[in-house]
Amino acid sequence: MTIREILHHPDERLRTKAESVSKYDGKLETLVADMFETMYAAPGIGLAATQIDVHLKVIVVDCGKQDPCPLHFINPELIRLEGIEQMEEGCLSVPGIFETVSRAESIKVRAFDKCGIQFEMEADGLLAVCIQHEIEHLEGKLFVDMLSNFKQKRIIKKLSKLNI
Ligand code: NI
Repeated sequence: MTIREILHHPDERLRTKAESVSKYDGKLETLVADMFETMYAAPGIGLAATQIDVHLKVIVVDCGKQDPCPLHFINPELIRLEGIEQMEEGCLSVPGIFETVSRAESIKVRAFDKCGIQFEMEADGLLAVCIQHEIEHLEGKLFVDMLSNFKQKRIIKKLSKLNI
């Protein structure tokens, strides 16, 4: 397993739309293992392949003991969104920035596991927020995109000072 480099905002590569996974092979298994290792080393509770410059629809999540974690999702699709919840979010690609974002409170997601077995899962609370956040990365979006222009500019200025 390898810890991969995480891209940081405003790196344009974070804006790439991920492609669907079509091969469930050893390469995919290595990618999932590397993503978990990279996420735990950071440390973080979720990671999308986009963040390590691999543009395939793969996300990993581990929100802790209360949820059925760790989880990985290949080609995830949100098939139900319900309610609205506001939660403070952060992102490994936007280090040191935490902002409140509105998202669906409960979700149903359809995906495949690394062996190519399709499954559906319901989630709410932190896990639902985390899955929505990671799926957005696969679309080339970041949680800061939802903030005002003023806040977005301030964040880019702050990140440039971190010099990472
Ligand atoms: Ni993120």
